[in-house]
Amino acid sequence: MNPSGGLFWHLHAWRHQAQWAATCADIAQWLGQMPPVPERSSELVIVGASAGWMMPSAWLQGFGSVTTFDVDRWAAPLFQRRHGASLRASGTALRCNTADALTDMDAVLQAHPRALVLFDNVLGQLRFHTPTVDEASRRIEKITRRMHGRRWGSLHDAFSGRTQRQAQAAAPAMQRSIQKHQTHPTPGNAATRPVELGRFSRQLRAQGEWLDHLTDHVFPDGTPIHHIAWPYRPGYCHWLQAGWINP
Ligand SMILES: C[S@@+](CC[C@H](N)C(=O)[O-])C[C@H]1O[C@@H](n2cnc3c(N)ncnc32)[C@H](O)[C@@H]1O
Repeated sequence: MNPSGGLFWHLHAWRHQAQWAATCADIAQWLGQMPPVPERSSELVIVGASAGWMMPSAWLQGFGSVTTFDVDRWAAPLFQRRHGASLRASGTALRCNTADALTDMDAVLQAHPRALVLFDNVLGQLRFHTPTVDEASRRIEKITRRMHGRRWGSLHDAFSGRTQRQAQAAAPAMQRSIQKHQTHPTPGNAATRPVELGRFSRQLRAQGEWLDHLTDHVFPDGTPIHHIAWPYRPGYCHWLQAGWINP
């Protein structure tokens, strides 16, 4: 059983497209702020692509080629079904792989030396794919260290948890901050998140303790971060963070 993908995820995403429209619009806006693409033949690699439920085909059409990786066997056919026609129309080559891209990032990076790499809502899921929280944190750190010198971005869960049920209709607008140097990791409670984002946490109408997705240190110091509300289902919300790194 895939704890962050699989048929249940696809069904849930398909059924919630209308409810997630504002979140997807925020994501599209952030995607549009990627590092400049040097040439038309530019390549995008997406890790944890699933069916690309939350990204617009129009953004993918700007690339010369798109290569996706996902361990979920339904992801590749559904990604092709969802985005294939648009990518054929724009002449964008599409290759969808059913494979674990994170265990051997070296192989992926060597095979795609000039590609922009997008971790698409996958790094925050690693705690569900790894036996212990400490090991998950180490995996995330190893992956992000390996990305040094590359152009890359990540959209991931920072926290998730219960909200007041009416919060779905009133999800806060996207907000921005800069990744600060942290000597002591913040404990996993959205309500104790530092300072300027306290407001965002209140606007999410968080209830109780939220789950920490261990992504606090994904971005290097100084990275501009977008904070996006994702009302996953009534009474339960994810706090997404998204950033681009252009060395
Ligand atoms: C929340 S979903 C991503 C949603 C997707 N970005 C979208 O817009 O539809 C997380 C995905 O990460 C995939 N995943 C988990 N570990 C992975 C790995 N090691 N390599 C590739 N994909 C992985 C899961 O199978 C799942 O499809």
